Amino acid sequence: MVYPHRDDLHKIVVLNPKGGSGKTTLAVNIASYFALRGPMPTLIDYDPQGFATEWLLRRATNRPVIHGIAPHKRSIHATRSWQLRLPAETDTVVIDTPAALEGSELHDHTYEANCIIVPIMPSTIDIRNAAKFIADLLLLAQIERHNRTLAIVASRTRHNTRALKQLMRFLSSLRIPIIAILRDSQCFVRAANEGIGLHEMPAYQVRKDIGQLNLVMRWIEQSRQSNRSALDSPPVPTGLPLPGRPLH
Ligand SMILES: Nc1ncnc2c1ncn2[C@@H]1O[C@H](COP(=O)(O)OP(=O)(O)OP(=O)(O)O)[C@@H](O)[C@H]1O
Ligand SMILES: [Mg+2]
Repeated sequence: MVYPHRDDLHKIVVLNPKGGSGKTTLAVNIASYFALRGPMPTLIDYDPQGFATEWLLRRATNRPVIHGIAPHKRSIHATRSWQLRLPAETDTVVIDTPAALEGSELHDHTYEANCIIVPIMPSTIDIRNAAKFIADLLLLAQIERHNRTLAIVASRTRHNTRALKQLMRFLSSLRIPIIAILRDSQCFVRAANEGIGLHEMPAYQVRKDIGQLNLVMRWIEQSRQSNRSALDSPPVPTGLPLPGRPLH
């Protein structure tokens, strides 16, 4: 078991084997958003470097609470399932993953996810790596492109660079939704230093960045809605084609 299991949980995994692509930054911002919205989310830090856990430790005690789990910090007194125990009120779990994930580990981290977000930086080398990684992901995890489980976020972008255009062309050729384009902005660095997300910063400081970050949250909310309707609707008789679900 990689993740705690409960039918009502929405598990959001942020991954890209490329180091420094913006995974932790995105994961903590998602956790911060859901903490403000409530109920209390859980942030699982699967990276032995523990940057998401450090972010959580910097968080002031008067901020909306995020439950943190660091599975790599093995306790001799705790079994794995006990370590992964969730507070009853948590209905959103955000998972930060380490760089260099591949093979069975990649499978384990994607298998039980309700949605997978891949931040990609616009550089030729990152785009090349991402192409291989996404091919592996589609194959390994048997992710259906159109069922709102997999999305890309362009991260740390600078406007109108050739690399950004190259990234956008590459992503549209994959027909995987690009849900947001996050700027290379000091707001993310400043917020991280304080253990908060952009949604917790003064509006005037984040006005250029919050709109795109909101698109990420909207996509997550929509994916939760479609999961719920899929659970509520009666099973489709076998042999009949599934209705196509349009992308945005
Ligand atoms: N949108 C952004 N604007 C400016 N800086 C950013 C942005 N996103 C991330 N960074 C910075 O880039 C660096 C790498 O980001 P981050 O740690 O989130 O990447 P990562 O994919 O989690 O890395 P690793 O693979 O090592 O875990 C950090 O110093 C972070 O503060
Ligand atoms: Mg990280």
